[in-house]
Amino acid sequence: MEILEFSMEKINDSMKHESPHKLVRWAYDQFGGQMVLACSFGAEDVVLVDILCKVVDKPNIFYLDTDKHFQETYETRDRLAAKYGIQFIEMKPMITLEQQAEKYGEELWKTDPNRCCAIRKVEPLTRVLKDYKAWITGIRREQSVTRAHAQQVEWDEKFELVKLNPLVHWTTDDVWNYIRLFDVPYNSLHDKNYPSIGCSVCTNPVRPGEDPRSGRWTGFAKTECGLHKGD
Ligand code: ADX
Repeated sequence: MEILEFSMEKINDSMKHESPHKLVRWAYDQFGGQMVLACSFGAEDVVLVDILCKVVDKPNIFYLDTDKHFQETYETRDRLAAKYGIQFIEMKPMITLEQQAEKYGEELWKTDPNRCCAIRKVEPLTRVLKDYKAWITGIRREQSVTRAHAQQVEWDEKFELVKLNPLVHWTTDDVWNYIRLFDVPYNSLHDKNYPSIGCSVCTNPVRPGEDPRSGRWTGFAKTECGLHKGD
């Protein structure tokens, strides 16, 4: 049955009390191998890797390798790959850091972080999503005002495919309870006051009580990198 024959509202209404596992299973029945998980190796995404590996045969999972991730992020990737026996699809930008520096100047993330994200994250995302009909993300309503109205199932106008947010109703505690219960490998930076992790050059630790996303692009009026609505 074609997904677009349904109204998104009806799907969300019927799914709102279902577990992320059920939502992922339902989506797999609709999209099969044309569904992919976007994994940043943050806390939400390691939960989704665990769920996907339990629900789906040979899951498709990609990560956007900006060439500027923390070492701890790459270690998380390797621990997940070993535990679940999976291989992540690696998406690289079209230009290296050296070519970027030649074209736009050194440390573009400091002078124009939007352009840096566009080159190193958004363009590779656009490229990988062309091969799929649905993508899964780890966004949660609680994370920010720009995500407060996110739905479990959405039509992604920007990238023109279905977007699934299985953890949209989860709290931070739900995420961490799941990680502990199922012993899911996670980024060790989370234990060092990094609740939200992006590139090493644009992510700082936060103090207790601060907005968990305040460590991202500190000093810039920027809260999203262009992968999700609200930027
Ligand atoms: S961001 O837009 O500010 O970078 P955030 O780090 O909160 O997003 O992550 C939200 C979701 O976007 C993640 O759960 C994941 O699905 C996707 N995402 C973010 N960064 C990446 C990445 N480097 N590779 C793949 N997916 C990513």
